[in-house]
Amino acid sequence: MCGIVGYIGNKKAKPILIDGLKKLEYRGYDSAGIAILNSGEINVVKSKGRIAVLEDKLKDISLEGTIGIGHTRWATHGEPSDINSHPHISKNGKIAVVHNGIIENYIQIKEFLLAKGYQFKSETDTEVIAHLIEYNYEGDLIKAVIKTLNELEGAYALGVLSTDNPDMFVAAKKDSPLIVGLGQNENYIASDIPAILKYTRDILILEEKEVACISSDKVEIYNLLGEKQQREVFHVDWDVSAAEKGGFEHFMIKEIFEEPAAIKATISPRIKDNEIVLDNLIITDEIINNCEKIHIIACGTAYHAGVVGKYIIEKLARIPVEVEVASEFRYRDPIINEKHFTIVISQSGETLDTLMAMREAKKKGSLTFAIVNVVGSSIAREADDVLYTWAGPEIAVASTKAYNTQLAALYLLALTFAKRKGLLDQHSYLNYLSQLQELPNMITSVLNEKKEIQKFASEHFNAKSIFYIGRGLDYALSMEGSLKLKEISYIHSEAYAGGELKHGTIALIEEGTLVVASLTQEQLFEKMIGNVREVKARGAVVLAIAQEKNADEVAKIADAVITIPNVDSVLAPIVAVTTMQLFAYYVAVMKGNEVDKPRNLAKSVTVE
Ligand code: G6P
Repeated sequence: MCGIVGYIGNKKAKPILIDGLKKLEYRGYDSAGIAILNSGEINVVKSKGRIAVLEDKLKDISLEGTIGIGHTRWATHGEPSDINSHPHISKNGKIAVVHNGIIENYIQIKEFLLAKGYQFKSETDTEVIAHLIEYNYEGDLIKAVIKTLNELEGAYALGVLSTDNPDMFVAAKKDSPLIVGLGQNENYIASDIPAILKYTRDILILEEKEVACISSDKVEIYNLLGEKQQREVFHVDWDVSAAEKGGFEHFMIKEIFEEPAAIKATISPRIKDNEIVLDNLIITDEIINNCEKIHIIACGTAYHAGVVGKYIIEKLARIPVEVEVASEFRYRDPIINEKHFTIVISQSGETLDTLMAMREAKKKGSLTFAIVNVVGSSIAREADDVLYTWAGPEIAVASTKAYNTQLAALYLLALTFAKRKGLLDQHSYLNYLSQLQELPNMITSVLNEKKEIQKFASEHFNAKSIFYIGRGLDYALSMEGSLKLKEISYIHSEAYAGGELKHGTIALIEEGTLVVASLTQEQLFEKMIGNVREVKARGAVVLAIAQEKNADEVAKIADAVITIPNVDSVLAPIVAVTTMQLFAYYVAVMKGNEVDKPRNLAKSVTVE
């Protein structure tokens, strides 16, 4: 969601900005633009649509400048249009601004500025920032930006360029991500590491309400009181290739194929001598034993991982768990006391609703524990403790390997809690540990079934509506399967608890309706067989997902069966989800959709 790039150095800024923006395409956007300082003048080129449209516009424009800022916009205030695209320019044309986030008091500021004679070209909240910086400018850009930021309410990551300051630009951040990349006589800013990884692995992570003054040979960071801040350099140790397609047609399929390695990276280092070792886990035995309730908060796919988390923590550790989407949690005045703790799940670590919900839980006295993929992200930094999922960069908007690794982290936690509460005998504990270590191989065997899944997808990609049904953990799994399909295929889809079908949904089943039925849960197997019979009797076409040992029986009633290796029911979702991810992927490919960048969606949702 909105991507920012900035460059200052001795190379031409244009190709670096365009290249960086392309690397941020995965975040989701509907327009793009750049501003470059060229012989004392700011040149802005921007357009609605893909970066290719912007490149086309730039073809005949010569921009030699070596300092500039760029932006991909995901519309919030005002439709996607050339005018609403960033950068926005101040009244006198001397200041250009790119912004990610939402300025909540922009109407009041706009009225103030209108009264001072400022005119507005766009419908955006961002334009007020450019004018307000100009209004506050008294010869010192940093001071003007700090004064402006103190007057803004809401969220921002900003890049600010000014004609009076040709040797530097300014960046700032609050509640939206922004990093500074350090080069040799050149420096960068970006919303995310992949945008600048080609040029540098040394980065500075801006903290909340900080402003950076970026020149080609130095970076200075200030707080909003104007006091200088010190920051350690963070060295990125993952490879550039991790953020590239590496021969795969799409990032999504590459990332699905990375699942075995990602799960291994998340689990293996944390199992030592037949014991799960979560270093310095802040959740002590005392907290676990006295815990009355766990809250799990997340959005999207991470929320669905949380639903699995509820089932497994309650089953194994017998602690009540409430799982909720962050946007609901944060505004409903949730009941939390010191005997509760909160688990927050987020791939990006930057989802604004999740971050705010976590702050709400913290404010109410709850310990916060984050399961996060992006190292150094806001949620990871602000939580009391963090368990990283070592999935590596996830670029495709539709989350895949991040989900599997979130489940892996939740298994590690649930088993740890259960063990510490004395609820698991050594034999069962060791059995779980050995199956956890087997998960990468199990997923590899699911990946080997891609041809059958692809074939089924090719027969059903024209479906108007697809239902996902399951019971228990299979219901939680179905929610994620259905979301994956919706996100990238644009086919209407719902997930239902198998037992709930006959209370209404079954009315929608007619001749030819496609139903994806999960039958991985041993104790619910017969019940699900009953549900499959119910939909079959009404004409449904059923794709079933079942453990190998039950495949023959399921094949007698389903139209097709995708098998997963035999696995304990508790661990089944992490293996079975891969079948659903592959199915959604192949349906979307068959439909000719832009798989990695589905319409209207953003990878990192940094606005409410
Ligand atoms: C967006 C993405 C989803 C993701 C959700 C939560 O909606 O498109 O794929 O699951 O945000 O993101 P997070 O980074 O917090 O896991």
